[in-house]
Amino acid sequence: MKPVHAIAGLLMAAAPLAAQTPVYLDDTKPIEERIEDALGRMTLEEKIAMTHAQSKFSSPGVPRLGIPEVWTTDGPHGIRPEVLWDEWNQAGWTNDSCVAFPALTCLAATWNTDMAALYGKSLGEEARFRNKSVVLGPGVNIYRTPLNGRNFEYMGEDPYLAGAMVAPYIRGVQSNGVATCVKHYALNNHEVNRHNTNVIVDDRTLYEIYLPAFKAAVQEGGTWAIMGSYNLYKDQHCCHNEYTLGKILRDEWGFDGVVISDWGGAHNTDQAIHNGLDLEFGSWTDGLRAGTKNAYDNYYLAAPYLEKIRKGEVGTEELDAKVRNILRLIFRTAMNRNRPFGSLCSDAHYAAARKIGGEGIVLLKNDGGLLPLSVEDGARILVVGENAVKMMTVGGGSSSLKVQREISPLDGIRERFSDKAEIVYERGYVGDVTGEYNGVTTGQDLSESRTAEQLIADAVSQAEDADYVIFIGGLNKSAQQDCEDSDRTGLGLPYGQDAVIEALAEVAADRLVVVNVSGNAVAMPWVDEVPAILQAWYIGSEAGHAIADVLSGDVNPSGKLPFTFPARLEDVPAHIFGEYSGTRVRDTLDIRYLDGLNVGYRWTDRQKKTKPLFAFGHGLSYTEFEYGKPRIDSSEMSLDGAVTVTVEITNTGDRAGQEIVQMYVGDRKSSLPRPLKELKGFRKVQLAPGESTEVSFTVDREDLSFFDPDRHEWVAEPGMFDIYVAAASDDVRGKVSFELK
Ligand code: BGC
Repeated sequence: MKPVHAIAGLLMAAAPLAAQTPVYLDDTKPIEERIEDALGRMTLEEKIAMTHAQSKFSSPGVPRLGIPEVWTTDGPHGIRPEVLWDEWNQAGWTNDSCVAFPALTCLAATWNTDMAALYGKSLGEEARFRNKSVVLGPGVNIYRTPLNGRNFEYMGEDPYLAGAMVAPYIRGVQSNGVATCVKHYALNNHEVNRHNTNVIVDDRTLYEIYLPAFKAAVQEGGTWAIMGSYNLYKDQHCCHNEYTLGKILRDEWGFDGVVISDWGGAHNTDQAIHNGLDLEFGSWTDGLRAGTKNAYDNYYLAAPYLEKIRKGEVGTEELDAKVRNILRLIFRTAMNRNRPFGSLCSDAHYAAARKIGGEGIVLLKNDGGLLPLSVEDGARILVVGENAVKMMTVGGGSSSLKVQREISPLDGIRERFSDKAEIVYERGYVGDVTGEYNGVTTGQDLSESRTAEQLIADAVSQAEDADYVIFIGGLNKSAQQDCEDSDRTGLGLPYGQDAVIEALAEVAADRLVVVNVSGNAVAMPWVDEVPAILQAWYIGSEAGHAIADVLSGDVNPSGKLPFTFPARLEDVPAHIFGEYSGTRVRDTLDIRYLDGLNVGYRWTDRQKKTKPLFAFGHGLSYTEFEYGKPRIDSSEMSLDGAVTVTVEITNTGDRAGQEIVQMYVGDRKSSLPRPLKELKGFRKVQLAPGESTEVSFTVDREDLSFFDPDRHEWVAEPGMFDIYVAAASDDVRGKVSFELK
């Protein structure tokens, strides 16, 4: 039979249109059929070209067949500006400014799956409008140490919480016909030596702590792409790793999407061929100056791969599998004619960013009900601190953005309170005055000539007769703060901020609010001297509005911490038992996760003497919630059955608010040691003053299981289990028990 394209013209008059359409272009046909048809039309060279980049962020598709390029973009908080073809630097377009959504730590702190869905939908619309097929995010690496420079891009310390939040985010993005690329799979839990850290972790810890959120992303979120991480596991880089990609992702989880290398994460042609990598990106930072006409031809999955096939050293089976995966991605995205058109910088996106920001801010402390501010006519509000004015959407690494606008905390406060109060600003300290990333500049002049002492003295003198003093500090997006490719060097606040806060507390202890802007826990040696503390994260475009919403009480805070705030770095198991390296090395470096399952509250729960500064799941409200006694519908459960736990929650305060009810499971006796309790459910409920509601959780076998490394499976052992209903991991409000038969 002649190929379809050769006879198409002859048939034009007689046959219906569908008969002439090659199967791969016919979107009434099942995707798998279209994939096979397209694959069958491609030359070897075209297939090879599909498996690696043609520019910094795109791969070529098949121009001859009209199969479109794959355009990727960072991710995960907004859509990155266009960059030059072969460079990281922005291209200088004027139509690529975006809305910056709150950092993923803030999203996780909402504990609200509806917020995750809204986030994904909104971000996906921006990506779609900008014609991207793949968003490089979200990230779900577990918070193992507060030093990790990229924790702000992740969803906290708990695998269940991260898994529950990532799935709706993915579905939201992908409802736009834009793929998520969940990263960084796997075990990329700190940044220093990220390219040569070989993680040594036992199977149980791997399956119980570090994998579940990725599994949820694949099986519940249905992500169409995943990004291999830079580090190694079992001495193989995770971008081509037979265990994490082959055995686990494909065989155990049934992933049918595309594995994309982190930029520069591929290192070896043979491993890239055989160990699950589909699409190679970023192997050289500059595609033009690396010595040949087109340096992309030298990628591991480019000319070296072609040569191996031509010499007969490898067959084409692996190549066809890769191309099938890439075609599947293209049919789901760029060749999906039913996808919506997207939208950019819409009012709805700003509203979403503000709402998610407001819901994610955590009220850590509020002695004497200092917050919300009650501002009377003629009041004076003093705002102190660099983070009140510094733009935070520029910097931090690949998640850096070019925003259409960013409301600073100071602007948000001015906008909200200026009708009544005089707002005075004092710098307090100098942090990082730079404001540039890959050619995007903040345009802010943060230069300052006063000495540190003078800055404190000026702030203190303004504080003396202020009605409220709001210190807004924390970390920023500069190297060794919350920033990719570097880690923090300690838990403390940088730039001498503790001294500023302490000096302010001396004169204004009764009216001082500290707003900590960071994506990581920080030490707070002044915690007892400051009555009110907010954890405000990096909120993005609407930062100032969201913070003012909470300070004013327009929004009642309802976020809770997605990770533990340790009092000291020495209390963190990764640093007590495990290994962590903060010194750059050239060679591969074994890092043992000897802290095992003892991540976050799984460790602090067992400590009698050391208490965290703020526990996982902690967060206050301007109202109060009372928990009734939890009830369970049965005292016994069979292995294939379930029990339901119900608790009544009442808003006993005088303003509407939301409470996050947490459900943890504890196994009284097990053949392997288990954490005292583990999060297995949560629900966020909105209650008017005086209102009550019942919250129910269903607990089944999966919630009771641990990973048995010898049997290589999840096991629920018969015996007594406790279910804890809690307002925070350190604030259990009730317990019920049952026996698993
Ligand atoms: C980061 C990824 C990012 C990629 C592309 C890498 O350095 O680790 O998270 O998506 O660059 O910018």
